[in-house]
Amino acid sequence: MPAVEIRPGIFWIGVNDRTTDLFEGYWPITQEGVSYNAYLVNGEKKALIDLAKGFKTDEFLTQIADVTDIRQLDYIVINHMEPDHTGILGILRQLAPHAVILGTAKTKEMVAAFYEVTENVRVVEDGETLPLGPHVLQFFHTPYVHWPETMMTYETTQRVLFSCDGFGGYGALQGAIFDDQYPDLSYYEREALRYYVNIVAVFSRPVLRALEKLSGVPVDVVAPSHGLVWRQNPGRIMELYRRWAGYATGEGDPAITLIYGSMYGNTEKVMNAVAQGVSRAGVPVEVYDVARTHISYILPALWLNRGVIVGAPTYEGGLFPPMAHALDVAVRKRVQNRRAAYFGSYGWGGGGEQEFRRLAETLKWEVLDSFTFRGGPTLDDLKRAEMFGENFARQVR
Ligand code: FEO
Repeated sequence: MPAVEIRPGIFWIGVNDRTTDLFEGYWPITQEGVSYNAYLVNGEKKALIDLAKGFKTDEFLTQIADVTDIRQLDYIVINHMEPDHTGILGILRQLAPHAVILGTAKTKEMVAAFYEVTENVRVVEDGETLPLGPHVLQFFHTPYVHWPETMMTYETTQRVLFSCDGFGGYGALQGAIFDDQYPDLSYYEREALRYYVNIVAVFSRPVLRALEKLSGVPVDVVAPSHGLVWRQNPGRIMELYRRWAGYATGEGDPAITLIYGSMYGNTEKVMNAVAQGVSRAGVPVEVYDVARTHISYILPALWLNRGVIVGAPTYEGGLFPPMAHALDVAVRKRVQNRRAAYFGSYGWGGGGEQEFRRLAETLKWEVLDSFTFRGGPTLDDLKRAEMFGENFARQVR
């Protein structure tokens, strides 16, 4: 996509990525893609703000050339060192050796470790300003949004906040880059939530600290390094991030995530009866098959919903492996303080429930109920499952 002038002298020069299947090598984006937004402040001095993943080098250099001669760059601002934003740094260093790389002290260490770049790297202090004529940049250290070296850059004359991962989301840009160019933002907001929960949620406290630090800063444009540029309603995405960060310590919404796995359909039959019971209580429920749904798509429901019902059979004396994996990721992503219940089939000795309870303890989930059945469910089991779902839903509501 050609460069877009987002404010006088300030250009979006990002690139779309529709060919990477797994973001960070793990999170699926095959259908959605992602953008690596970067920006160029083209004043008397010229500053590049954030870069792109290495395999996008050709396209990225063309984007820069659309605005200026790369040899005239004065500064390269590195808000965040993760290679989705710095992959082209090595080649850029060779093409623009005089441009000064700016970042935090940790960025300086990491630039050396990742790219063996040690010359012409300058540390910027928290709150420091850099006049570019007529533009002025100001740097705000925002550690752990997403890595420890992270900062955000603010252009003071046009009030543009270059927030990097903060306020970002999955989803390649579909032609337009601004929020006001899309009649319906629900797709990008949903993908911003999935991105938040997959990538940022562990760092929810630092997100709230960053929002606090920025609370006195007037922002007309939020320009993150993934997803939409918010110029019509910049407060919207900041408020969504604030709300999502709150779920790290809050009890969640009165709704239920029903995650299940089934080897031969017995646990699945019971799952349908449980879901029926939940619905009868009038509580919203989201159902996911853990063996067929990547945890990336389940985590948003786990993050937002107060109740979790786990349905999984015993497998070799433990929990059905796809469920064990899903709950292990929930542990790593600190999806804590939920109300939970368990059901599942077993063939002979059981063991699935015990493994679930160990994981639930680690997660600080309050287990309110459970039931197991041997082999296939009887009609009585299904009636019991319906009551189990309804009773649990009442306790969540
Ligand atoms: Fe978009 Fe943490 O990198």
